[in-house]
Amino acid sequence: VMLLSQTLCLCFALALSYASFNLHLTLTLTGPLDHGHDHHEDQAHHSANPDRCDGIEFDAIAPDEKGNSFFFKGDHLWKGFTGPAQVSSAFFMELDDHHHLGHVDAAFRMHNKEKPEDHDHIFLFLDDKVFSYYNHSLEEGYPKDIQLDFPGVPSHLDAAVECPKGDCNSDSVLFFKGEEVYNYDIATQSVKVRQWAHLPNCTSAFRWLEQYYCFHGHNFTRFHPVSGEVNGAYPKDARHYFMSCPKFGHGGDAKVPKCSEVTLDAITSDKSGKTYAFTGRIYMRLDTHRDGKHAFPIARTWKEVTDGVDAVFSYSDKIYIIKGDQVYIYKSAAPSTLIEGYPKSLTEELGIEGPVNAAFVCEDHHIVHIIQGQTMYDIDLSATPRTVAREAPLPISGIEAGMCGPDGIKVFVGSEYYHYETPRILAFSRIRPEPKTITPDMMGCVE
Ligand SMILES: *[C@@H]1O[C@H](CO)[C@@H](O)[C@H](O)[C@H]1NC(C)=O
Ligand SMILES: *[C@@H]1O[C@H](CO)[C@@H](O)[C@H](O)[C@H]1NC(C)=O
Ligand SMILES: *[C@@H]1O[C@H](CO)[C@@H](O)[C@H](O)[C@H]1NC(C)=O
Repeated sequence: VMLLSQTLCLCFALALSYASFNLHLTLTLTGPLDHGHDHHEDQAHHSANPDRCDGIEFDAIAPDEKGNSFFFKGDHLWKGFTGPAQVSSAFFMELDDHHHLGHVDAAFRMHNKEKPEDHDHIFLFLDDKVFSYYNHSLEEGYPKDIQLDFPGVPSHLDAAVECPKGDCNSDSVLFFKGEEVYNYDIATQSVKVRQWAHLPNCTSAFRWLEQYYCFHGHNFTRFHPVSGEVNGAYPKDARHYFMSCPKFGHGGDAKVPKCSEVTLDAITSDKSGKTYAFTGRIYMRLDTHRDGKHAFPIARTWKEVTDGVDAVFSYSDKIYIIKGDQVYIYKSAAPSTLIEGYPKSLTEELGIEGPVNAAFVCEDHHIVHIIQGQTMYDIDLSATPRTVAREAPLPISGIEAGMCGPDGIKVFVGSEYYHYETPRILAFSRIRPEPKTITPDMMGCVE
């Protein structure tokens, strides 16, 4: 499981989704928050601001199209993992016309590539009505009766969560009501009703970074979306993981680094498009814009790598992690498992001496390009024994990380990077391209 931990506080991108860091910016600009008051004009009919660190039961949880996660409770919500409650109607305006309903029963984000007009919409369920929002505007024709959009799905739901094809057999939605789970197939509109007796009744459900969570009380339980199976020690207290609470784990001092202060030890993208940036003992997934960008301890995913990395590259279905004079080879598919016999020495595995600064393989090629100081070594991974086939001096020094993707090569020097179309151009061009700066979009940092 990839979840947040204490160690993150020290690090470059503390488990922050874009949502929370936007919020963080707002906080910085408006000064300390007064928990007793809303800034919303018509707050008169709203109940007092709840505090999620008190240990509350959420009504619904869902991300929007930008990867902001919303946690609903009564007529309030929280945007992201940090920050205070706000009135729901500040984000989903028309809910206020229905405020007599009091709360959202369930919410999910639609995953439906076949039907672009619904894809990424956030659907909110109140009693027997469904609301569809995109870009925080209510779509025309909504609210409508739930059964008009979701035949066979009951009113007065407890929870809902998207289940895209790949996780489920087809693009689906899981609806929860009491002990019943309704598996709704989006394309065929067919419903299968199940009971997962071992799972508590979920009052909200959330898909986050490819995992499924059932929330009950202030706890949550991770489950498999097809079998309902629960593996591991659950329930867990949500305050340790899904929010920033002073007495629970990672504390409230979330500090988002400036982009000009971000430096990388390594960066790589695997075959399935998962992209990882490494710095210190932390890594960040860069391809998860649908769920926001988040940082995790490296050792949480690659257990044996406890002291950071020097270079990382992906080759076929494996990820190679280099630290000092050691190479760790892991299967890319989750959960990451270390190949038997590893770590091995760099000399034995690649025929070179450590330490190295950066390493990358270009798509479908068998050559790993290893950068050491101002030299690049090419090693053929399809040959045995592995030996340096070519060696070239580089036009720039201080490279700490590099990756090769469909749009060419990026090599990182401090908080800047250089773009080259091919390894050959990197090795042989004498013209130094203009450096580019790491942007918030790339790394979840701030300008
Ligand atoms: C989203 O809404 C904002 C303001 O309501 C508007 O300015 C913007 O153009 C909208 N974006 C899209 C993609 O519809
Ligand atoms: C789960 O929901 C059912 C139906 O509403 C109810 O009878 C049952 O008591 C609930 N279980 C728990 C543990 O709350
Ligand atoms: C939450 O989980 C703990 C065990 O981890 C359990 O003792 C407690 O009763 C649970 N509380 C709720 C409200 O589910």
